Amino acid sequence: MLPIGPLMKEHRKIERMVALIAEHAEALRADADLEPDNDFIFDALTFIREYADECHHGKEEHILFEELRGKELSAAHAETMERLIEDHQRGRELATALETASNSWEDGDDDAREAIVNALEGLADLYPDHIATEDDDFSIPVMSYFSEQEKADMIEEMWDFDHDLFTELYEACIAQWETPDRED
Ligand SMILES: [Fe+2]
Ligand SMILES: [Fe+2]
Repeated sequence: MLPIGPLMKEHRKIERMVALIAEHAEALRADADLEPDNDFIFDALTFIREYADECHHGKEEHILFEELRGKELSAAHAETMERLIEDHQRGRELATALETASNSWEDGDDDAREAIVNALEGLADLYPDHIATEDDDFSIPVMSYFSEQEKADMIEEMWDFDHDLFTELYEACIAQWETPDRED
C-alpha cells in the first residue's frame, strides 16, 4: 500500500460528514423557520476537529508534507502544498466560527443563525475541492519523490500517529477524572 492509501480512505469518511453538513446548511437556507440542529452541529464539530483535523490533517502536515519539505519539489507541487495547508487553516477558522455561532444561538441570540449557516456552507464548500485536489492532482504524483523504503517508513509512521492520538485522547480522559479539584 502507498502511504496515501490511509489518507484516501479517510477522505471518503470526511466526504460523508461534509455531505451531511451541506444538507443541513441547505435545509436551513431553504426554510427560515427551521432551527439549527445543535446535536448534529456538536457531532459535526467533534468530527471536523478530531478526525478531519487532528487525525487526518495531522498525518498530512506532520508526516507527508513534512517529508516533502525535504525534497526538491516542482514549483507547482510546492504551490499546491501551501494552498492545501492554507485550506486546513481555513477549516480550523470555520470550525471556530461554527462553535462561536452555535454557542451564541444556544444562549438565545437569534442573529447567530446566519453565522451558523455561513460556517456550515463554508465547510461544505471547502472540503470537496480540497479533497479533489489532493486525490487527483497531488498525492499520487508526489509519491515519485520517495523511494520504496521511504514510502514504507511513512506508512509505519502513520499507524503510529493514529495509535498515539487515540492513546492521548484516553489519557486526557483519565487525567481529567483523576484531578481531584476539577470544576465540572
Ligand atoms: Fe488536506
Ligand atoms: Fe486530505
